[in-house]
Amino acid sequence: MTQALDTQTAIAVIGAGAMGSGIAQVAAQAGHKVYLHDQREGAAEAGRAGVAKQLQRRVDKGKLEQQTFDAIVGRIHPVSALSEIADSGLVIEAIVEDLEIKRTLLADLEELCNEETILATNTSSISVTALGAKLRHPERLVGMHFFNPAPLMALVEVVKGLATDNAVAEIVHATATNWGKKPVFATSTPGFIVNRVARPFYAESLRLLQEGAADPATLDAILREAGNFRMGPFELTDLIGHDVNYAVTNSVFNSYYQDTRFLPSLIQKELVEAGRLGRKSGQGFYRYTEDSERPEPGTEPACQSDDTRLIVEGETGPAAQLVERFREAGLEIVERDGPGQLRFGEAVLALTDGRMATERARLEGTPNLTLFDLAFDFGKATRLAVSVADQATDKARADACALLQKAGISVSVIEDRPGLVVMRTVAMLANEAADAELHGVATKEDIDLAMKAGLNYPEGPLSWSDRLGNGRVFQVLTNIQNSYGEDRYRPALLLRKNHHADKGFYA
Ligand code: NAI
Repeated sequence: MTQALDTQTAIAVIGAGAMGSGIAQVAAQAGHKVYLHDQREGAAEAGRAGVAKQLQRRVDKGKLEQQTFDAIVGRIHPVSALSEIADSGLVIEAIVEDLEIKRTLLADLEELCNEETILATNTSSISVTALGAKLRHPERLVGMHFFNPAPLMALVEVVKGLATDNAVAEIVHATATNWGKKPVFATSTPGFIVNRVARPFYAESLRLLQEGAADPATLDAILREAGNFRMGPFELTDLIGHDVNYAVTNSVFNSYYQDTRFLPSLIQKELVEAGRLGRKSGQGFYRYTEDSERPEPGTEPACQSDDTRLIVEGETGPAAQLVERFREAGLEIVERDGPGQLRFGEAVLALTDGRMATERARLEGTPNLTLFDLAFDFGKATRLAVSVADQATDKARADACALLQKAGISVSVIEDRPGLVVMRTVAMLANEAADAELHGVATKEDIDLAMKAGLNYPEGPLSWSDRLGNGRVFQVLTNIQNSYGEDRYRPALLLRKNHHADKGFYA
């Protein structure tokens, strides 16, 4: 087994900004002596002071002992000359995101440090291969990509460039584990794992907004309350900053030779051009002034229905738990054969399969069709998105809403768009994850772990896809692709293959 660097090994962090200071804190907490250097005068001292301020809060709350605080802060040594870090066993650079400036620094470090010293870069978008190309020993350069804020976020992507020595990557991986992190391996490809696989989380909601499916507050609420994502995409990008999020999307889009799967959003471009960058500028999708209130999500008012009988026609797949909730709500459940749909009053309800309700209503001869969205856990979801076929009667629409409300579910009726919100988002996340696996970016386990540890997703996209049943995501994407006629929604090859083998990613 590969040995992690022991705590006798000094660590150097170059760049004492938001990331560098956080990384210095992580290494010092793990027991290492840490050199912190920044070319800007006073920045390294300020970085250490920032760490002390953070930790002081924990001392004040009684969560950290004064002695431990003193030890951690005492291990961080701001140094003004780069030469002072020469005896470090690992140097992590977290300076400005610029290829040439980083290359110059890495070349200086190579001159300065001994041959065993591992050089690591915290870059989030520059190729590790390109950063190593001018080094005499590119095999000792590896990506060590932390997430913001580094002391809190568990994920570290250990990124291998073309020349990176596997043994070096293993040491960094083992060291990150010792530091209390959850490291994953990734090859140096645009966006690595997280910044690539997460693109659809933003892109699909932005597109649904562009297509008038619903407003941001409603879409955010659906992804939180049905999808179990900690934040919806609009509140999250307001927090990240639209300039930053839009730049990452553009960078991934251009790096993949403008594959339309990564197409940036004109709506987000507008926000950036207007200076509505999110929380930091006081306005993004939402307003952040003192007197501003977050708009309420679109929610159907109470719908009336005196019906007490629910007919379940065939297997409802992932929505089986929903039927249990109706049973618990006191409805009489009648089961019979059928295509997997529910009948209540005039309404016919079915889980979205990626087609529009209006299209499916005509093809299946069920004009009163209401489609409901995916939920992370149908047994617990507090909200569901639905779309109603154009052909449906008002009574059928009201019956569909009344049924869901009987189970205590808030109903958000959105415009009839393919795949609704959670299903479409999860299908596209799984699609991207499947492609990343196929292209050797990372293993399926590491991709799933990265999305959970790096972004707090409730489940990894590939394991989520498996849970929906063999072939479901493939079918949903095929239908969405047919609806739009766009290459963007083409199902990844592994989804197609798994579908035909009637298996999932894990079993
Ligand atoms: P920042 O702007 O807060 O800090 C960068 C620091 O590097 C500044 O203090 C600057 O004075 C210093 N610096 C610039 N050139 C230098 C040089 N040649 N030698 C020594 N110090 C130098 O930036 P931030 O956000 O901390 O990002 C740093 C790196 O981490 C970038 O590569 C970025 O892409 C990456 N990153 C950023 C994340 C974020 O959320 N901010 C997340 C993960 C990675």
